[in-house]
Amino acid sequence: MVKVLVTGGAGFIGSNFVRYALRTHPDWHVTTLDKLTYCGRLENLHDVVDNPRHTFVLGDIADSAVSAPLVRGSHIVVHFAAETHVDRSLQSAGAFIHTDVFGTFALLEAARQATGLRRFIQISTDEVYGSVPTGASKETDELRPRNPYSASKAGADRLAYSYWATYQVPVVVTRASNNYGPYQFPEKVIPLFITNALEDLDLPLYGDGMNVRDWLHVDDHCSAVDMVIEKGVDGEVYNIGGGNEVPNIELTRRILQLTGKPDTLIRPVADRLGHDRRYALDTAKLRALGWSPRHLFADGLAATVEWYKASPWWWQPIKHQDPAYQAYYKAQYSTRPGA
Ligand code: NAD
Ligand code: DAU
Repeated sequence: MVKVLVTGGAGFIGSNFVRYALRTHPDWHVTTLDKLTYCGRLENLHDVVDNPRHTFVLGDIADSAVSAPLVRGSHIVVHFAAETHVDRSLQSAGAFIHTDVFGTFALLEAARQATGLRRFIQISTDEVYGSVPTGASKETDELRPRNPYSASKAGADRLAYSYWATYQVPVVVTRASNNYGPYQFPEKVIPLFITNALEDLDLPLYGDGMNVRDWLHVDDHCSAVDMVIEKGVDGEVYNIGGGNEVPNIELTRRILQLTGKPDTLIRPVADRLGHDRRYALDTAKLRALGWSPRHLFADGLAATVEWYKASPWWWQPIKHQDPAYQAYYKAQYSTRPGA
């Protein structure tokens, strides 16, 4: 059996990756290490948590007593665990430094001592390039992160690289664009807007609504990570982009159409501080390995809307019964001035 450690496997992309890995690789045993923070949920793994090829471990990646033996006992580490929401990093950045930087450091220190480790995938993000007004970021471009979240991810990205350059830890870094799909926590724009629309609540659109994101279906992200595990070169960086650049206002209108709700639900609100205008990735390097995305954005978004429609069991307890979520939502949106 190939022993695979997935950190952050109870989060959005991590849980989709665990499911993908168990389905695609019958010779893998997957261990999920997750702290179950506000967005890490065992519900995300409900259909695989009892799979005999899956083990769940509750713990903090920064706690070496828990994480180091797991890293040392693995052939492959796929490191998703992170604090991930830009708006939260603007309110309070401490947890981002703890997990994204120090937590990554703890895993890399263990990886340095590991004897059977073949791959350490550092899941980074396109946000490390900063805002890109024109063109598309290449892996060799300068990193110019502009918010505490992306700065913490850039720190982890380069720290991981340094463990390859210095100690030959078999690190490969991936930088993906904005993911969408099932099990995404309803603080990120797509699940927030879908679930608000389904409940006839307004959709708080930041600024002029013209910021652009490149949308990547989470399954295409999983297949890209799998490809990089198999064919990537140690010490290299691979961009993973969906090639679907969409301004937020257009995304919002598409969600309203798919949910059958009126445009009057759009509420223009004050912009995010330091809001990155646009991200775009050049994915030629990954495509040269043989990867391409399979999901068309129109179909993937429609399927995602259908999943949220069919899965109130998953999102309604978060929105209606979780006091921490409700406090966050109130602070973020209730007194936010109009744009
Ligand atoms: P998420 O917020 O949904 O999940 C993060 C997971 O990490 C949760 O399960 C949480 O409990 C866990 N976690 C947090 N701190 C931890 C700690 N100290 N120890 C152990 N577990 C901890 O995140 P996501 O959107 O699935 O993102 C996963 C990774 O992909 C992150 O590294 C993120 O930076 C990266 N990424 C995300 C996107 C995107 O669009 N969502 C795009 C590119 C890259
Ligand atoms: O690009 C990859 C990154 O994508 C990941 O690294 C991050 O972990 C992930 O959170 C995501 O960051 P964004 O800031 O791009 O995603 P978010 O869903 O928060 O916002 C997407 C766009 O929608 C952005 O331009 C801000 C806007 N927005 C967001 C929210 C939550 C709104 O207009 N209103 C909102 O309420």
